[in-house]
Amino acid sequence: MTLELNNTTSLFRSFMKSWLDNRMIAVDMTVGNGNDSEFLLSHNIKFLYGFDIQKRAIEITQNRLEKSNYSNFMLFQDNHKEIKRYIQEKVDLLVYNLGYLPKGNKEITTKGIDVVESLKKGLDLLLQGGMVWITFYPGHPAGYEESIMILDFVKGLDQRKFHVLKMDYINQINYPPFSIALEKRY
Ligand SMILES: C[S@@+](CC[C@H](N)C(=O)[O-])C[C@H]1O[C@@H](n2cnc3c(N)ncnc32)[C@H](O)[C@@H]1O
Repeated sequence: MTLELNNTTSLFRSFMKSWLDNRMIAVDMTVGNGNDSEFLLSHNIKFLYGFDIQKRAIEITQNRLEKSNYSNFMLFQDNHKEIKRYIQEKVDLLVYNLGYLPKGNKEITTKGIDVVESLKKGLDLLLQGGMVWITFYPGHPAGYEESIMILDFVKGLDQRKFHVLKMDYINQINYPPFSIALEKRY
């Protein structure tokens, strides 16, 4: 396995490349422009669900995935905290890429309170051995605030039930992006 560690995106992709398989069901909790959704589908997963509160994000991603000839996906324009209204089956992976839509309205950004609520519900849907991957951007004030709230929540998870790993670029200046990988043990 070749690991690329140069930024949070390549770290996520390196890890996922060796982990994903064709029986897996993944949920992109923050669809945005569809980069993560398309990456996951390109690894032959069984099915992808996706959430975004913005109509524009859903439209862009729907068109993008159809153009690439994927049909094994379903996107919902709603808050990820509503996950259980849309998904009843068990899933293997939840992916969060926090913050605002690149080149979009910076006021429309993820919120710690919604992410924590969606995590509470999502962890329940997660299979044993399932993963949650969260990428944080604490370099903007709202991103910093939400990172504190979410870290607080995941730090409090029972270590017998979850492995929670934090990956920090500790020699970078200011507030660089960082990642959390969480594995459900049982
Ligand atoms: C950094 S972007 C995601 C990038 C995306 N994963 C990609 O590959 O292009 C964050 C997205 O989260 C969405 N978002 C914000 N709050 C949300 C919520 N409560 N539920 C679902 N999506 C939300 C925003 O509209 C934005 O499109």
